Amino acid sequence: MKSSKMNLQRIAILILIFLCQNAKGQYNTMWIPDTLSGTQFNLTLQDTFAQIVNTGQQTITSGINGKFWGPTLFVNKGDVIHMNVTNKLNDSTTLHWHGMHLPAVMDGGPHQVIPPNTTWQPYWTVKNEAATYWYHPHLHEMTEEQITKGLGGLLIVRDAIEGALALPRKYGIDDIPLVLTDRDFNSSNQMPIVPYGDSMLTNMTLRAQYNVPAQVVRFRILNAAIERSYNLGFSDGRSFSIITSDGGLLNAPVSVTKYVLHAGERIEILVNCTGQNGTSVDLKAYNSLLGGFIAGGENFANGPFGNFLGHKDFNILHLNITGPTSNAISTIPATLTTNTLLNIADANITRKLTISDSSGVPGILGPNAFILNHKLFNIHFNEYQVPLGNTEIWEITSSSVFGHPFHIHDVEFNIISVNGLAPAAAQAGWKDVVFIPGKTGATNSVVKFIAKFDDFADDLHPFMYHCHISLHEDEGMMGQFVVTNPSDINDIDKIDFPISIYPNPAKDKLFVRFENPSQSAYYINITDVLGRKKLMLPVPDLQNGIDISNLSKGVYTISIIENSSKKTITKSFVTY
Ligand code: C2O
Ligand code: CU
Ligand code: CU
Repeated sequence: MKSSKMNLQRIAILILIFLCQNAKGQYNTMWIPDTLSGTQFNLTLQDTFAQIVNTGQQTITSGINGKFWGPTLFVNKGDVIHMNVTNKLNDSTTLHWHGMHLPAVMDGGPHQVIPPNTTWQPYWTVKNEAATYWYHPHLHEMTEEQITKGLGGLLIVRDAIEGALALPRKYGIDDIPLVLTDRDFNSSNQMPIVPYGDSMLTNMTLRAQYNVPAQVVRFRILNAAIERSYNLGFSDGRSFSIITSDGGLLNAPVSVTKYVLHAGERIEILVNCTGQNGTSVDLKAYNSLLGGFIAGGENFANGPFGNFLGHKDFNILHLNITGPTSNAISTIPATLTTNTLLNIADANITRKLTISDSSGVPGILGPNAFILNHKLFNIHFNEYQVPLGNTEIWEITSSSVFGHPFHIHDVEFNIISVNGLAPAAAQAGWKDVVFIPGKTGATNSVVKFIAKFDDFADDLHPFMYHCHISLHEDEGMMGQFVVTNPSDINDIDKIDFPISIYPNPAKDKLFVRFENPSQSAYYINITDVLGRKKLMLPVPDLQNGIDISNLSKGVYTISIIENSSKKTITKSFVTY
């Protein structure tokens, strides 16, 4: 009698433990995005489905070469890389290379629209330093929706300086990408388009766990959220070493126990797990410590910003520490690189920008939008003409009570000051996003950074600057500038540019030749008989012809914009 009662008790306890675990939710092994490397990258954006929630229906998603999110691209500084971006979505889109220093016409901002069933082929020489960058859609007013659906991916640059350091670089083993975001899932497991989700997703995995070896582990962390900032820290309070800011290595690792990562920002960190085989630790967001004017620090129970994670601490990743690998890295280097930062004395100009809310601004929006320079984004208006080669200080004064992660395209910059103070050590390197804190009482916040706008001038295609909270960006918290080259001769009389295209009919390759060798193509579009764009070729290299092997048999129009005159000529050709 006694022993069977004991057994019943035991069974009851076991059931209880099982129920508790189920209520807490079991961990899922974190997904690691596939990798692509080399100099030619095929990226296909598509609408699809993914089993994100463990039970029930699949979720309608978009993915790049896959179901939800895209591959991690590894590129080397100095290489010329070619992207074949094919849009198989039902909508137009763009693909922006966040953080890359490249020609505006290759940038993938709102001006480089890729219609459905079209391939866009940008290419550029990788000039950025080794660090973790990313790519994501940037279609005007559609960024929040397209990122929410799952479009994006990491872009990792390697270079000789980083390569010479004793750092972990076994992808998925001791060099682990962490894409942080959050989503809502409704009762049929679908994702509404909301600024804040109820559920943390780490590499698009709910309740993620991962095994890491007992050695120094590197995490490349991207805040890919629509709005939320994450106050990163470990459950045992351990310190971790930040080794990069957005756009390059820091001079030396910076040891911290907490770090707030805002939307669009990246850091790489080293965590020493040496000798901890068999233990576990959680990477968490300590967002209960965030103030109410930092995204994710607010505590709205209901309404459009209501969510379960607001002003709470929650798990990002449960780490199980396992045995070390061979050739394990066991120490954190003392120094990393020597950054030569821009010199304030070299600045040609200080541009003053403002951030404010739209209350009181006549005729534009309700009181709840945020705006730059007192106006909404206008895709046809260039706020600034930046002379090629300028070194500029951008001074941003914010009268918004809310903090905004400000991002600029084309350049990596150095923060000069945040409310008069020099940047924290972990931000004293190359950055492309800077957090502009909300004003304190009646005192506006002022952030200054310095950047050099070299290499790429283009009168037609602007670069963007905007808040990286996608909701704010879509609502109009964005502006644009062109980098202009005063020595560019724009001879508007030069309307003739005799060209020949051959062979015609063509099969796999189409060649274009300018009769005047000083002329070249700025842009080529190939459209079918129904006027649908099939191929978009920014500044194509025409040496080896245009690859038309993917075009089905038929009649096409090629329109060529000549580089110096920006005039267009169109011709027809036939494929067989
Ligand atoms: Cu990551 Cu203009 O964006
Ligand atoms: Cu960007
Ligand atoms: Cu904002």
